Amino acid sequence: MNDDLKRQAAAMALTQVRPGMRLGLGTGSTAWHFVDLLGAKVAAGFDCICVPTSEVTARQAESLGIPLSNLETLDRLDITVDGADEIDPALNLIKGAGGALLREKIVAAASDVMIVIADGSKLVDTLGKFPLPIEVNRFGLGATQRTIAEVNAAHGAQGGLKLRQTKDGAPYVTDGGHLILDAFFGRISQPEALSRDLLDIAGVVQHGLFLQMCKKAYVAMPDGVRTIQV
Ligand code: A5P
Repeated sequence: MNDDLKRQAAAMALTQVRPGMRLGLGTGSTAWHFVDLLGAKVAAGFDCICVPTSEVTARQAESLGIPLSNLETLDRLDITVDGADEIDPALNLIKGAGGALLREKIVAAASDVMIVIADGSKLVDTLGKFPLPIEVNRFGLGATQRTIAEVNAAHGAQGGLKLRQTKDGAPYVTDGGHLILDAFFGRISQPEALSRDLLDIAGVVQHGLFLQMCKKAYVAMPDGVRTIQV
């Protein structure tokens, strides 16, 4: 991953931000650059109010003096800027490698515009090579896992499910107190149907397919930042 490319994509997203805007702040190494650049703008007197998509991003924003709020106080946001793990030609996404998919989806859904920033390595023809994160309730994990495996198999999954773990081998726990199962598909040929089927499972809290939510992406390549719009 090229940090310089991520920063270039983040800088392009910053050009879309106007004074007084209500912004969603994404999570991950690319979103980190956007928050960093926004922090410098705020330090120079820029006015905005932001909702972070994770505790990690909240801490970064606080450290930079970016004013934070929540979706109780603000009913809508103007723009959310976030990274992605995979981006298809229609700007459907896989997100959640950083574990923040639930808050990311809530914040993106409350935003008029979702802008994705990434380097070119995230572009794919078809989603699914990157493992799909599925956030599940801790209760009934075994039963939920079996049902998800059946649904995924019916959708052509080429691999199984892996409970996400921290470096020291403990289960990874999300900001919402849930667990994450990473699902290995290889190729997701019908993302809308898969999305519906997964959300029908009682123990599933959310999954990392972001379908028809993003209309604009800034994708940084070695020869410049590409704007993709749908
Ligand atoms: C966080 O949960 C994710 O959705 C990230 O936005 C996504 O994984 C992209 O992260 P990077 O910018 O670090 O690749």
